[in-house]
Amino acid sequence: MSVIKVAVLGTGFISNIHMESFQRFVRGAEVVAVWNPNPEHAKQFAEQHKIAQYYSDIDALLRESGCDVVDICLPNYLHHAYCLKAIEAGKHVIVEKPFCVSLREADEMLAAAREKGVTLFYAEQLCFAPKYERVRALINAGAVGDVYMLKQAERHSGPHTPWFYDVHRSGGGCVLDLACHGFGWFKWMLGKGCRIKSVQANLSTVYHNEITQGEDNAVVILEYETADGKTVTCLSETSWAKPGGMDDRIEVYGTKGVTYADLFQGNAALTYSTEGYDYAMEKADLSTGWTFTIYEEAFNQGYPQELQHFIDCIRDGSQPVFSAQNGRDVMEAVYAVYESARTGKKVELPFTSDAELPISLWKAIHSS
Ligand SMILES: NC(=O)c1ccc[n+]([C@@H]2O[C@H](COP(=O)([O-])OP(=O)(O)OC[C@H]3O[C@@H](n4cnc5c(N)ncnc54)[C@H](O)[C@@H]3O)[C@@H](O)[C@H]2O)c1
Repeated sequence: MSVIKVAVLGTGFISNIHMESFQRFVRGAEVVAVWNPNPEHAKQFAEQHKIAQYYSDIDALLRESGCDVVDICLPNYLHHAYCLKAIEAGKHVIVEKPFCVSLREADEMLAAAREKGVTLFYAEQLCFAPKYERVRALINAGAVGDVYMLKQAERHSGPHTPWFYDVHRSGGGCVLDLACHGFGWFKWMLGKGCRIKSVQANLSTVYHNEITQGEDNAVVILEYETADGKTVTCLSETSWAKPGGMDDRIEVYGTKGVTYADLFQGNAALTYSTEGYDYAMEKADLSTGWTFTIYEEAFNQGYPQELQHFIDCIRDGSQPVFSAQNGRDVMEAVYAVYESARTGKKVELPFTSDAELPISLWKAIHSS
């Protein structure tokens, strides 16, 4: 079967991870083009990764590159516009998390893909992370009995580029950036047909007050209802205020057991260095003293496995195991989080809102 041709939009952090994944691990795919509005950035990235074509004109890329699928690795507020453009050109689309920045955008993206008959993929790599998948398999085999509680936490000291802190471009703080992972992973763990019943949130800005209107610390309790009518309590803890590098953990509690998994620190070499060294782990600001030295970062987080699955779906015309509708459902929960943070009350789902920025449900947002 022919090779699936990929065009990557964006040349930043996640574009590099996707490139490593495609080039080292994914079979049956070739990245044929990259786009960045700055031609120098596009050229530099293409040279670095040996990509044959680079563009600064998106219409030219869609018209001329010959790509089958467009991989959107752009700031959150651009997901919607570039997704619609790519769909209009008849391309399949991969969208990084979060799906977009509003419910209106999410609905438009899903409708456009449906109407054009292309596949829209929501990139939630935790559904493919090998350690978390091992946990899911043993839970499904009954190792901990009936699951009554799930926890997921992701924390670090804050994103690496300024647009994340501008809520007009990110849509919100650590909830939109990090808790979206947990909300999606809970759905994945609880299986097809589960839905979020309610959301309760406590949000605060404790560390980055001077540079963002967004929350940088969040605790969210969600109730999920499984297809067989069981209610499972899920706890999401996220932060942009925790120094010491990236932390991603899960806990699964059942009537007959429990399992804990740690994606970064539990997968690292423990190093003490007085001199420091090149790179310890994502978001770590120091490499002196005791550090967690990560290895195979992309692979352990599930990026290559996720992208392989998307390419396989395109090759054989099948639907992804974790659909784009889930990206939309996560957005609905994000909206409910901000509503709960404002009212101090539990919010029942379905929840709808016309707010163009989810965070504006929590507080009045001034222009940046
Ligand atoms: N799955 C994950 O865990 C994960 C991790 C990191 C980032 N992401 C997601 O990937 C997306 C990109 O994040 P990132 O960390 O790569 O960001 P980044 O800032 O490192 O890179 C963003 C890229 O977009 C380009 N860009 C910025 N403004 C633009 C504009 N106005 N028009 C066109 N291009 C523009 C930049 O030049 C850069 O190439 C975000 O949606 C983010 O949430 C996901």
